[in-house]
Amino acid sequence: MDIIRSVKEMQQWSLARRREGRTIGIVPTMGFLHEGHLSLIDTARANGADCVVVTIFVNPIQFAPNEDFDSYPRDFEHDRALCEEKKVDAIFAPGVNDMYPAPVTCYVSERKLSKGLCAKTRPTHFDGVTTVVAKLFNAVLPDLAVFGQKDAQQARVLRRMIRDLNFPIRMVISPIIREADGLAKSSRNKYLTPEERSNALVLSRSLQEAKNAIANGEKDLVKIANEIKEKITAAGGRVDYVETVDADELEAVEVKSEAPIMIALAAYFGTTRLIDNMVI
Ligand code: PAJ
Repeated sequence: MDIIRSVKEMQQWSLARRREGRTIGIVPTMGFLHEGHLSLIDTARANGADCVVVTIFVNPIQFAPNEDFDSYPRDFEHDRALCEEKKVDAIFAPGVNDMYPAPVTCYVSERKLSKGLCAKTRPTHFDGVTTVVAKLFNAVLPDLAVFGQKDAQQARVLRRMIRDLNFPIRMVISPIIREADGLAKSSRNKYLTPEERSNALVLSRSLQEAKNAIANGEKDLVKIANEIKEKITAAGGRVDYVETVDADELEAVEVKSEAPIMIALAAYFGTTRLIDNMVI
């Protein structure tokens, strides 16, 4: 497995693989890898990637000044061992100065899908994500890119970026990996105290209960969202948002029809903000 630190070296590595006729899959991450990330590597292979490149870069521009950039968990040696075990072909782990030689004055911005849901409390977040992922694509030159449904809005925004900016990349969205008790795996779960972690189980549980209610004929999605909010509050969480939206365009939907909808939510337990979602 190769460890690559500079954009130029990454491009040369990828161009050499492409000349050999091999396809490249990219799995962008911020490291502190867990089984959710590792499942994306399997998805890349299952979708035909001959080589898999995992990128590890804690991207400063997607964190607001009041957010957790400095304290975001990092453990490169552990990440490296996990990637080695997974037979990853290369890790791309550039330094901040490699990715953002100062001054940076060019950004990528999506203007519709990136405006609601998480953007209401994180207004600059998605510009940071689209910008860094466009740069990672130009460094790794992949044929295939894999993102997780865990970050559902991010995946929709990036799918639109790939389409609108003509990146010659096929994108696959991989399912949410959960702990045995339902909590969606996340690098940020590490911040939770045992009590907060146990309270946070309300997220996956209330989504599952909403799914059951809809299966039993409930069509009023405003009521469904309000019930989830009440359950989160009763469990000691602080609701950021609970919304029912069209699963692709992310527009609000208030009455369930045949078309798939997504219930997306974010809530704080202590100071930790967690997200989860379910497509129904
Ligand atoms: P990060 O939070 O490290 O997540 C990297 C990828 O792993 C994302 O596509 C995310 O959706 C996926 N992922 C995380 N937890 C998952 C889970 N429990 N099940 C399935 N997939 C999961 O998302 C980012 O990093 C960054 O914003 C990034 C795209 C790398 C840009 O900086």
